[in-house]
Amino acid sequence: MKILGIESSCDETAAAVVEDGVAILSSVVASQVDVHHPYGGVVPELAARKHIENIVPVVRKALEKAGMAATDVDAVAVTRGPGLVGALLVAFCFGKSFAYALDIPWVGVDHLEGHIHSVFLESPSPEFPFIALLASGGHTNLYYVSSPTRMECLGRTFDDAAGEAFDKVAKMLGLGYPGGKAIADLARTGDPEKISLPRPYLDKDAFNFSFSGLKSAVHRYIQTHPDTYLDQRADIAAAFQASVVDVLTFKVIHAARDKKCRHMALVGGVAANQRLREKVRESAKAQGMTVFLPSVDLCGDNAAMIAASGYFCLRDPDRLMEGLDQDVYSRAARK
Ligand code: KG4
Ligand code: ZN
Repeated sequence: MKILGIESSCDETAAAVVEDGVAILSSVVASQVDVHHPYGGVVPELAARKHIENIVPVVRKALEKAGMAATDVDAVAVTRGPGLVGALLVAFCFGKSFAYALDIPWVGVDHLEGHIHSVFLESPSPEFPFIALLASGGHTNLYYVSSPTRMECLGRTFDDAAGEAFDKVAKMLGLGYPGGKAIADLARTGDPEKISLPRPYLDKDAFNFSFSGLKSAVHRYIQTHPDTYLDQRADIAAAFQASVVDVLTFKVIHAARDKKCRHMALVGGVAANQRLREKVRESAKAQGMTVFLPSVDLCGDNAAMIAASGYFCLRDPDRLMEGLDQDVYSRAARK
């Protein structure tokens, strides 16, 4: 079954064709970084307008790369939420219309589940049940995943998401938007031990997160070192990254041990962080566990994960076809 996945929840317009939920035939991502860069963050109205410009060429390119005509598509999967409503509506309305015109099934999928399904697009993939840590710009959630469509959220962030903290600290350091990669690049030349920052573990037994205190600690450091902080940016970036990596690593390993899972997955934009990938790999190995990491291209927003998600949803009787009157949603469902 060849599924066309379409995604426009934030600042990437993406389309992909995936066969049977696992084989990527094409994956196209049009980034809007240049549009939002001058504003230091995503401007929702501009994002929606840019998606409207991009959606047809991006879908056309995805079909072309897969060597397919529109009539070769078996079903459409499109992101329903969470995300920016104006942005989401572009792919959502396009996807429904595309499926209606071709008289093929369509399914609206959850963006967060999509990130988890990114781990099935490469082999080997984890065995059920496994623990998934989703760390992105909008969310930091830990899940117990017992089947492709059954996942229990064990914990989430109380305030900033991990990626959001990266972006905000990058802004404080004058590194621009998006900040995650900029911090990671700068941290390479810094010493993570020179500046002491807190590790927000909260209750070590809990699966929740909080990154706003850490962000404030960086802010305080900058305020109390106005003359020197610019020369210390690499050390600040390294110390901040080390704190986030330590906390994420501790929690995902703790969840896997607590739930007796040998396998775990790291997904979402922050899972592209090389230091995090290394640290979780080492820690998992020391515990006799295995961590599955999507390749960097599949960590950030893409439509291959949406197509994979659509495949699993279409096969689950509880998730079957939705009516054309279905709508998008901006916030994550609390399950
Ligand atoms: O999953 P994603 O592409 O979009 C959302 O659904 O939010 O994640 C984007 C987030 C941004 O906050 C970005 O700064 C962060 O992922 N990110 C990184 C890295 N690359 C992207 N954070 C840390 N290290 C990176 N290498
Ligand atoms: Zn995402």
